[in-house]
Amino acid sequence: MENLYNQLLQNNKDWVKSKLAQDPNYFNRLSLGQSPPILWIGCADSRVPANEIIGAKPGEVFVHRNIANMVVHSDMNMLSVLDYAVNVLKVKHIIVCGHYGCGGVQAAMTNKHIGLIDNWIRHIKDVYRFHQDELNEIKDEKDRFNRFVELNVVEQVLDLGKTSIVQTAWESGQEVHVHGWVYDIHDGIIKDLEINLKDNKSLSEVYQLDI
Ligand code: CO
Repeated sequence: MENLYNQLLQNNKDWVKSKLAQDPNYFNRLSLGQSPPILWIGCADSRVPANEIIGAKPGEVFVHRNIANMVVHSDMNMLSVLDYAVNVLKVKHIIVCGHYGCGGVQAAMTNKHIGLIDNWIRHIKDVYRFHQDELNEIKDEKDRFNRFVELNVVEQVLDLGKTSIVQTAWESGQEVHVHGWVYDIHDGIIKDLEINLKDNKSLSEVYQLDI
């Protein structure tokens, strides 16, 4: 561990050196400000590093990560990131990226008690309950787990659309597309669930705000 810890700081020095070798103004340019076109909401899982898997450079993606890429409408952290991304940075695309093999989603399928995290996992259990007819039909446990990962992403995309932040942006004519992706940790490939939510019309009527 001590070795890895020291190695990280050395890696940083090497990285700075290589960036400056390619472009002496690299950090000067980045320090002027950011205008990323993308907001990424992904899982905290160490195997799903946002920028790396999509080849995005510093300055291109605004990132929020938590366990199981959740959009919990009372989460001040998520709401603050979303508000800043939409209203200040004016991102055009919001991507919720889940991943197969997600430990948070898997825990939600079981009755295991872990601790405080049970209360976070509960939000994922709600997704199971909404889709329990479809999920319980899937007999193979792995297939059911994979589908649950996908449905969890779908619900988080809809949850973004339900926020006053995104609906206000849509109403004012701001272009904001909300997408759902699933990353496969087995082969590195991202599956686009092809949702592309861009207005509140596909939300259940009760969620459509008169703005
Ligand atoms: Co995960």
